[in-house]
Amino acid sequence: MIRPHDDTSVAAGGLLSRVKRRQLFRIGFLTATLLAVTEFSAALLPFLWVLKIEGLGAKIPAGKKADILTKFQASKDEPILNTEGRFFLIHAPGAIAAAYRKCTHLGCTVPWNKTEDQFHCPCHGSLYDKHTAVVIGGPAPRGLDLFHVTDVNGAIVVDTNPLNVLKRENNKWNPAHVEVPDA
Ligand code: FES
Repeated sequence: MIRPHDDTSVAAGGLLSRVKRRQLFRIGFLTATLLAVTEFSAALLPFLWVLKIEGLGAKIPAGKKADILTKFQASKDEPILNTEGRFFLIHAPGAIAAAYRKCTHLGCTVPWNKTEDQFHCPCHGSLYDKHTAVVIGGPAPRGLDLFHVTDVNGAIVVDTNPLNVLKRENNKWNPAHVEVPDA
């Protein structure tokens, strides 16, 4: 004998499968969101988590003040290159200073030219003074920027943060920029 079709059980089954589908959809959506957030955080973390700054940007010990002054005396004040920190120690009038060796024209690395006794940018020929690193020729608009220097118990430390430099817009040596005097 054929039993009449049970409409109530069919409707209940349909409702159940719709609810399950909705739940599955929600779980899928949450999982995808969680994965996306995890991936994004993993990509962002290295930028936020600076463990140790090295080279340019760090505070770099540049030697004992007495040794630096002796070197200057023996070499007629030849600038002392620090490749790690990208600066030259210069013997400014009555002081030790640190000149960032990035040309203020278009950013080339500026070398010391021993024969010419001046800094000479190889890119477009800007020339900078031996003692003050102000411009004495070429297209550079101002002297090399100066890094802050400190004397820590007789040792010179140079702060090579390029965002925290002394700019010389007027291209002149400014005695107010002296941070480590000779004596
Ligand atoms: S970048 Fe140095 S002179 Fe142009």
